[in-house]
Amino acid sequence: MIGSRGRLWIAAGAFMAATAPAAAQAADAVNGLQLSRQWCSSCHLVEAGGTARDSAPSFPGISNDPATTPQRLRAWLAAPHPPMPGLDIAKAQEDDIVAYLMSLKSQ
Ligand code: HEC
Repeated sequence: MIGSRGRLWIAAGAFMAATAPAAAQAADAVNGLQLSRQWCSSCHLVEAGGTARDSAPSFPGISNDPATTPQRLRAWLAAPHPPMPGLDIAKAQEDDIVAYLMSLKSQ
């Protein structure tokens, strides 16, 4: 029994080692756009040519701010400010949204 449990842990460790870098690479800007349309477009202009609803800054504008980095976007999304709803964004979804926002830079 101990032997098979040991193998299970080794398998779990190998699985995590294999999936962690893959997940980091899997950030998908196209999915990020879909999520942004779904969750952010009620306030933000999320794509060039879309329609803005209010005073929230446009995503192309945010992206082209030289101060905008993936780290800053993550920090922003981790601590939503009052006008923004407390979105329960999963890590992978956050990566996709950040990838999408960064893909808008210098358009
Ligand atoms: C209920 C309206 C609302 C929704 C929904 C919303 N936001 Fe915002 N967001 C705002 C407003 C208003 C500001 C500007 C607040 C400020 O400057 O203090 C803002 C600011 C931001 C900023 C900072 C911009 C800067 O100047 O650095 C980021 C990044 C951002 N939002 C991302 C998002 C993302 C990503 C989503 C979707 C997951 C989202 N927001 C959904 C209203 C919203």
